[in-house]
Amino acid sequence: MKYRIKDAYEPLNQHSTIRSTIQEYIESAGSDFFDFNALRGFGKGIIPTEILNQDPVIKQILDNTPCNMGGMVFHMNPWTCYEWHCDGIRDCAINMLIKGQGHTYFGNKINKYLHQIDELVYEPNQLYLFNTTVEHTIINEHQERWMLSIGFDKSEESLDYHELHAMCQSLGLV
Ligand SMILES: [Fe+2]
Repeated sequence: MKYRIKDAYEPLNQHSTIRSTIQEYIESAGSDFFDFNALRGFGKGIIPTEILNQDPVIKQILDNTPCNMGGMVFHMNPWTCYEWHCDGIRDCAINMLIKGQGHTYFGNKINKYLHQIDELVYEPNQLYLFNTTVEHTIINEHQERWMLSIGFDKSEESLDYHELHAMCQSLGLV
């Protein structure tokens, strides 16, 4: 039986309508789209709000979250993986896989050497609430991976995962 970590992630009950629009936007922007941070080695690029607002579900969420940081797409090279980590500047996010796949794991640390893991398997066009305060890692395989991530600023009017979940529940999205 699959091991589940409570309050780590949850799919929304409606699909996104803009996955291919985002992919086409990135492809048309070419190599300039991703900014590769020399320190961390992964790329990120910004998706304009006008594109995000074409998706009725995302628009509803953005309209109800003044602390949203907009849409970023994270780029990951084939055959790379992240360290186990919690995000520094945000407590939660809404994610959707744009291209590629890879393996995303949440983990409960058992000891210095072991985590008990729960895999988030991204389904096409599916939006997920993602608790970035739970330790997670990504192991990417042979494809380049593009992940849309809408984060929520930790500063004033911030949202944690439970508040984001409650807000989505009030909109009938979970
Ligand atoms: Fe992360």
